[in-house]
This record gives sequence, structure tokens and C-alpha cells, in this order.
Amino acid sequence: MIRDEQRRAAAEAAVALVEDGMVVGLGTGSTAAHFIDALIRRVRDEKLNIAAIPTSKRSDRQARDGGIQMVSFATVKQVDLTVDGADQILRGSLDLVKGLGGALLREKIVAAASRRLVIIADASKLVDRLGGKIPVPVEVAEFGWESTAARIETLGGKPERRWPKGTDQPFRTDGGNYILDCTFGDLADPAGLERALSQTIGVVESGLFIGMADMALVGTDRGVKRLDKPA
Ligand code: A5P
Repeated sequence: MIRDEQRRAAAEAAVALVEDGMVVGLGTGSTAAHFIDALIRRVRDEKLNIAAIPTSKRSDRQARDGGIQMVSFATVKQVDLTVDGADQILRGSLDLVKGLGGALLREKIVAAASRRLVIIADASKLVDRLGGKIPVPVEVAEFGWESTAARIETLGGKPERRWPKGTDQPFRTDGGNYILDCTFGDLADPAGLERALSQTIGVVESGLFIGMADMALVGTDRGVKRLDKPA
């Protein structure tokens, strides 16, 4: 519960960054859901005139149901501000592991089109080393996924196809792909691994977001801490 309060506080701090007329990227996950709730309230109470681009069907539904005007890349070239969660945030560089919620591809597309990417999280997400026990989610094409997994093993990872407990089907992303949760242990060179994964045939996208986050707002016991990407 304390964690959820920290997530909510970070989301509330981020919603203050939204200005009238902006195109806002909406992340995915429980922390991003708090942000979308807070944004819905601002749009309703302050008659804020914004448009939003979602990173998942879940976030799209939540925002639409709340009355936020949604747009797509068919009409919008650039996103002013994207607010999203993360699974790990590296202290200092603000490099990220994302995708435990399964939306990493759309999250990366929206982040790459954004002037500013702000990450919101509870304090447990802030780490001194990426990886460890947390796997790096890697979205892969269904065709030949076993072969893609074997190539990822040669990079030092232990890939496991995501398969939600109690279901008879593997997890599929909004784009219909599989996710391989790849345990690499502590990541000594996250940028190098991200490059190697992006060059691996069959990989659609990896959950390593290198140099993309501009700011992190982290909920802690002593309030929300702001961390900026080093200049
Ligand atoms: C979704 O694919 C992920 O990248 C999420 O941003 C991440 O899993 C954070 O989720 P929580 O806010 O629920 O921890």
C-alpha cells in the first residue's frame, strides 16, 4: 500500500507538468494509470485542452472513458510530454528496464517521438545496477521465436517465454507478438546489450530504454524526489 501511495504521489507531481495545448503520451502500468486518472481530473476540472497518444489498449480505454481526446501518429508528428512508469531506473543515467507490463514496443515508439519523457515510479524502482533478478523483457516475432531465443542465449541471457499463470496461452502483446523475459544478471553494459538485442534477428524491440528518460519523479517516504538526466 505504501508503494501505491508513492506511485500516486509521483503521478500527481507529473500531472502538474501538463500544459494547455499539449499532446501527451500516456504510459502503461499501475503508476501510469494513476497519472491518467489525475489527468482526467485536470481535463474535467480545469477544462484543459489536450490530446493524448496511448501506449496500450488498456491506457487508451482508461483515457477515453475519462473523456480525454485521443489522437494517433496519423495526425500528430511529435508528442510534447510522455509520462510512463518503469520497472527499473538506473541512478545517474536514468537508463531504464521497461516492459514487465508488456507494452514496451508502443512505449518506445511514443517515447522516441516525445520532446520530453518523464518516468514516474515508487522508490523500489531506483537501482544502482540494471538487471539482477529482474529480467529484460524482449518482444519477439512469433515465427521462429525458439530460434530467436537461442540467439539471445548466445548474448548471455536466459529467455523464458512469458506465460501468465493459470492460462493455456502464452502472453501476446497488443501487436500480437511474444515476450521473452530474459535474465542476464547484473548488466555491466546496458547500452551494449540494447544494441546487440536490436541487431538480433527476430527481436522486435527490447525493454532497455537507454538515454531516453529526461526526468524521473520518484515517490519516497519523504516526498517526491526529482532526478534529471545528466547534461
Ligand atoms: C509496461 O510495459 C511497463 O513498461 C511499465 O511501465 C512498468 O511495468 C511499470 O509498471 P508499474 O507502474 O505497474 O510498476
